[in-house]
Amino acid sequence: MAETIEIRVPNIGDFKDIPVIDVLVKPGDRVEAESPLVTLESEKAAMDVPSPQAGTVREVSVQVGARVSEGSALLVLETRDAAPAAPAASAAPSGDPPSALPAGASAIAANGLPPAAAHEAAPAEVAGPAPAQAPSPHALHASPAVRRFARELGVAIESVAASGPHGRITREDVQAHVKAALATHASGALGFAGLPPWPKQDFASYGPVEVVPLSRIRRFSGPNLHRNWLSIPHVTNFDEADVTELEAFRTQLNAEQAAAEPLVRFTLLPFAIVAVVAALRAFPDLNASLDGEQLVRKRYYHIGFAAETSEGLVVPVIRDADRKGLRALATEAAALARKARDGKLALAEMGGASFTISSLGGIGGTGFTPIVNAPEVAILGLSRALLRPRWNGSAFEPRLMLPLSLSYDHRAIDGALAARFLARLSSLLADLRRSLV
Ligand code: COA
Repeated sequence: MAETIEIRVPNIGDFKDIPVIDVLVKPGDRVEAESPLVTLESEKAAMDVPSPQAGTVREVSVQVGARVSEGSALLVLETRDAAPAAPAASAAPSGDPPSALPAGASAIAANGLPPAAAHEAAPAEVAGPAPAQAPSPHALHASPAVRRFARELGVAIESVAASGPHGRITREDVQAHVKAALATHASGALGFAGLPPWPKQDFASYGPVEVVPLSRIRRFSGPNLHRNWLSIPHVTNFDEADVTELEAFRTQLNAEQAAAEPLVRFTLLPFAIVAVVAALRAFPDLNASLDGEQLVRKRYYHIGFAAETSEGLVVPVIRDADRKGLRALATEAAALARKARDGKLALAEMGGASFTISSLGGIGGTGFTPIVNAPEVAILGLSRALLRPRWNGSAFEPRLMLPLSLSYDHRAIDGALAARFLARLSSLLADLRRSLV
């Protein structure tokens, strides 16, 4: 037999008159035991008040913005049977320390991401409304802190694509949503507003299709790439470097240390980093960022390199590359690339680059035009080195030629400077001893 119970604010420690920041249900919604009903927010934390038992919401007594204290009426729930209400929903005895997790509330630190345990132990999903009705936004998985974050940014939580476990919407999902929206807006603001809308097609009407959601990394990097592409006046210069001697040296190094421990595989990348650092020293405007009408030249050499992962591109950064030898660079690049592939790169390992290298040489291709990785002003692309005939003054001889491409922000760098940089880089790669000069 059904009975109704009034759900009130449980014991929430010393907090009084705290605002209701979200009402997660409406009359008629069916909820399960432990489903969040209302979100309260103190100065220190956001907390959900969960339902003590399963039932149907009959009446909601609070609105967003209302201020409540322990014992304030929240809503009336018609329970499915006459089982006694769990004590969590009734006003718990006062006197608990305010820092303790209030009974009947799942607290989440308001100043950032939820602690892992709280995140994982988030309340069960609210049962959706009757099948005939549209899905409620509250049927979506999102912690109170994430809902609050979305609300602060004016984002409708139901419009955010979830990437967390079990379809949970994470803080990063909200950020990616906003970035995508801003990128779209920026494209309009930059003069695309007059263009016809993006063509919408029913591809399935032309043949079978498969719809694959973009990976999380792609959803993050896409808007950034779009911004950089639209807002930086890109130019790409091309050159090539004779890496015949370098390749001989690399092969020799790899052979010499074949039995050594720990084994380090010398690829082209660490050599390129050494040469790039030496070239950047000679042309500091490329190791820089634009700041309004100023160019900020960096006196540090933190070199990012694009690394391919199954989820998309990431750019780990080798810090203070100017102070590291070839072996250290090779070891670090390999370790970072492995971490990237395993999805274990820390944020700190991807920030602060002063210049980036994108190497597609291990894969193939004769040239490409990388997009500048803002706020840097230039990026070097390396393509596949190939044996090519070169005239030595009396005959053609086979030389291993490495294609170089340098994309740069033309607001900061002129074509002539870019050409000089590439010429210097080319001579450094042809004879790395020059990096000592
Ligand atoms: N020309 C010819 N061979 C090359 C080369 C080049 N430019 N660059 C690398 N190689 C060789 C390597 O020396 C290695 O050969 P080896 O087995 O004889 O030693 C082989 O190709 C594989 O190298 P790789 O594993 O790719 O190592 P790397 O240090 O050169 O590159 C990464 C490391 C992380 C950069 C690379 O794995 C990667 O992810 N590249 C993709 C980057 C990308 O997608 N950029 C596009 C951004 S727009």
